[in-house]
Amino acid sequence: MIQRMATNPIPQFPAGFLWGVSTSAHQIEGAADEREPSVWDAFTAEPGRVKDGSTAAVACDHYHRHREDVALLADLGVDAYRFSVSWPRVNSPGGLDFYDRLVDELCAAGVRPVVTLFHWDLPVTLDWLERDTASRFAEYVSVVAERLGDRVAKWITLNEPAEHTLLGHALGVHAPGRQLMFDALPVAHHQLLAHGLAVRALRAAGAADIGIANSHGPTWPASGKPEDVEAAEFYDILLNRLFSDPLLLGRYPEGIGELMPGDAESDLKVIAEPVDWYGINYYAPTKVGAPQGAEIEFGGLTLPAELPFSVREIEGHPVTDFGWPVVPQALTELLTGFRERYGDRLPPVVITENGCSYEGVDDQERIAYLDGHIRALHRAVEAGVDVRGYFVWSLLDNFEWAEGYARRFGLVHVNFDDPATLKRTPKASYTWLRDVLRTQR
Ligand code: NOJ
Repeated sequence: MIQRMATNPIPQFPAGFLWGVSTSAHQIEGAADEREPSVWDAFTAEPGRVKDGSTAAVACDHYHRHREDVALLADLGVDAYRFSVSWPRVNSPGGLDFYDRLVDELCAAGVRPVVTLFHWDLPVTLDWLERDTASRFAEYVSVVAERLGDRVAKWITLNEPAEHTLLGHALGVHAPGRQLMFDALPVAHHQLLAHGLAVRALRAAGAADIGIANSHGPTWPASGKPEDVEAAEFYDILLNRLFSDPLLLGRYPEGIGELMPGDAESDLKVIAEPVDWYGINYYAPTKVGAPQGAEIEFGGLTLPAELPFSVREIEGHPVTDFGWPVVPQALTELLTGFRERYGDRLPPVVITENGCSYEGVDDQERIAYLDGHIRALHRAVEAGVDVRGYFVWSLLDNFEWAEGYARRFGLVHVNFDDPATLKRTPKASYTWLRDVLRTQR
């Protein structure tokens, strides 16, 4: 692998291409006692919710160690850093001051701040089942934009509303832990509405360069049998198109709009408020077939038997420590598929997350994963997809939601066994990425 890369450098991306890394507030900040609680604090306080019984009360303690982390970013040589602002922290005294300082430090280090406004840590007093949460979100967004807008390079309204709906409200394995199955659909609608209102609030505050970070991946039918094809199509509608069609086409996929609360038709005008770019978080494709009438264990999840589809194992590809298949060419497939489906309605694309979970600091598998995916991305660029940036998930090992600290996505190792130091150690993948970035200048 190493030899192959040495003789075969990563191809050159277009001038101005934005290279970055991503994190989120709840997963790295800690200092939970210095802000209001979020739904995730309440969720992790319930026994059995997080696999290793951990919480994010301290996490990487980034709140107190941000200078060290900004130095790591500068040394890595990224153009941009994507982080999220915690709504409960902004509601707390001194909260916005923290982000103000962080943004200043990033600018001083020559790293452009890319801000996600919602990465799942909803204030515990709010609820996405309520329509009003969308308006409250827009008010909070205005406050953040007024304060940080003069220095933020790019805005991301929401992170992965699909996962927040599915895992948090339909299956109940993420906060707030509801098992509403299809009754969770209003949560998707209210987040999409919140996105549209936030775009308007950002524009009113003079902010530019606005996007979203939606999770997407190709859905592969388990076979050519009609029942498998139909199940895969349904999965694709629910996890992919439900979140991209309203934004890019101004309509819900067939059969979905009528399941949404309120006047979905008039809300769609807000939801489809034009964005400047479209962010995609990509990890792996999914193989889907007809229901098998039994629970399925998949990627750390137990999927209930009553779902109208079943998720199947993808064979013939390596898997990460999380069990997710490593299929770089599916990223090319995804992007060319997006271009085909949305045509000129697709704004420039940014890969807002891509990465993998592996143990150890000599993480050659992570290097192979990133190498393969960056090349696959380049093939999409060559095929005519307008891709403007790529962000690795993640800068640091961090609190991986219901998996706790067991899954390590970082380019930098964090020693969670020693809470006094939480020592950061750059991994082999960090050095590798730094070298790649040098060749892209
Ligand atoms: C998507 C989420 O945005 C992020 O929070 C999570 O850690 C990664 N995927 C890895 O699962």
